[in-house]
Amino acid sequence: MSAKTKKAKPVRDLLFGNLWEYDPAPETAEPHISERYQLFIGGKFTAPRSKKFFPSFSPRDGSTLAEMAHANDADVDAAYQAAAAAFPAWSKLPGAERGKYLYRIARLLQDRAREFAVAETLDGGKPIKEARDFDVPMAAAHFFYHAGWADKLSYAAPGKTLAPLGVVGQIIPWNFPLLMLAWKLAPALACGNTVVLKPAETTSITCMKFATLLLEAGLPPGVVNFVTGAKETGAAVVQHPLAKKIAFTGSTAVGKWIQHTLAGTGKRLTLELGGKAANIIMEDAPLDQAVEGIINGIFFNQGHVCCAGSRLLVQESIADQVLAKIKIRMRSLRVGDPLDKNTDIGAINSSQQLDKITELVASGSAEGAQMHQLECALPSQGWYFRPTIFSGVTLSQRIAREEIFGPVLSILTFRTPEEAIEKANNTAYGLSAGIWSEKGSRILRMSTQLKAGVVWANTYNAFDPTSPFGGYKESGFGREGGKQGMLDYAELL
Ligand code: NAI
Ligand code: MG
Repeated sequence: MSAKTKKAKPVRDLLFGNLWEYDPAPETAEPHISERYQLFIGGKFTAPRSKKFFPSFSPRDGSTLAEMAHANDADVDAAYQAAAAAFPAWSKLPGAERGKYLYRIARLLQDRAREFAVAETLDGGKPIKEARDFDVPMAAAHFFYHAGWADKLSYAAPGKTLAPLGVVGQIIPWNFPLLMLAWKLAPALACGNTVVLKPAETTSITCMKFATLLLEAGLPPGVVNFVTGAKETGAAVVQHPLAKKIAFTGSTAVGKWIQHTLAGTGKRLTLELGGKAANIIMEDAPLDQAVEGIINGIFFNQGHVCCAGSRLLVQESIADQVLAKIKIRMRSLRVGDPLDKNTDIGAINSSQQLDKITELVASGSAEGAQMHQLECALPSQGWYFRPTIFSGVTLSQRIAREEIFGPVLSILTFRTPEEAIEKANNTAYGLSAGIWSEKGSRILRMSTQLKAGVVWANTYNAFDPTSPFGGYKESGFGREGGKQGMLDYAELL
């Protein structure tokens, strides 16, 4: 056996996939990035009828990576027509057959894991270790999970028949481009729907690469269509008469506009919007573990995370100690080139997002909070922001109320568990929360009082495809992941 020959996989792994330890063969694979990407409609790469293209930059150094097609109304219409034409055959396939396509997609993604991870990091700015160890394996895990459901839909809602909705329109953001694509596509396809999906304008490259993977998997033409573009393209996806459901992840402002626009149309809608999660540290918490959770909760993916633990609520008796520990831990964070395997905090996704973070951080100082920023060199080109924490924050300050979506933590204190709950719930959002305590009974009691879709206890940012994710209040409605998320893509008859 030559050194290059791939080691045979145990049969168990071939059948079920060892999701976390799978070793993709071509370690040397370069992510091929084309100069120009077309649209993906009806199983073909199609020139945009708009004849327009726009650049996708690398936040790593500000360079232009590729040109993406800018889909107009006619392009979006062509995508919906293709999805509608593919629907009858796809929805009538036995679930086991649809499942085979999903398994194949998951496997192919594992095979091309490195290529996808590097492309994701180049286009979006996240640290390569996160793209490699989180985004790509998790995206594959979502396809595996839903592949397993495809032939078992009759067990998902006993006594009911699950029927697909038809063509669904999906719009995803730029913070987890490939993973959000997986969250959206896998359940829709498992249930027998066909899809028109629009990726975010700053991060469309892995989506267009995914189109090549769908072709490799032999997915029938039109089952999945990708239209790239910005706001107007998204609006056209939302407003198309053939859409039976819209699934959106992004800002609360756009989510509200979509809800308004779809009111009275009878179309289904799920919204996964922003957050301002409270990460609550009780005085009996395992402090070193909690500090790791605080750091991960706010600095993972540069804080471009809807469920980021962006408001730290610390019990007053341990506040000074926790602040000191966070400051020490921050010193070991490496900020810089996202392609460097040692980087903890990569690039900010776009210059607009960098402006937003900068403006909100300035408001924090102006409104009287104390800023502590990591002193470190930043790359001379590209978009970067130093990890920042604010102590002495009050609930009325903008940095305690608005989603910053950057590496910025606001620290507030409380005296009693009741006060912690009151402060945690004093927000327009309700996506996630964290509690750190040694007392199980306290965790159980407090978690039922938190108005948040996900509550983590003694951990943070833990994800699994089997677990539903979604919010309350201005964080949206509907769930993604788990059986609950899948049922949002089906009619129960
Ligand atoms: P955005 O909501 O404008 O973008 C998200 C997606 O929606 C993109 O694909 C975009 O092209 C699309 N879109 C924009 N306008 C649309 C419209 N009228 N109809 C349909 N689709 C439309 O978010 P943006 O401007 O990129 O980020 C602003 C802030 O939103 C961030 O700073 C962050 O606070 C929040 N955000 C939250 C996300 C989450 O995961 N919940 C993801 C992205 C942003
Ligand atoms: Mg980009």
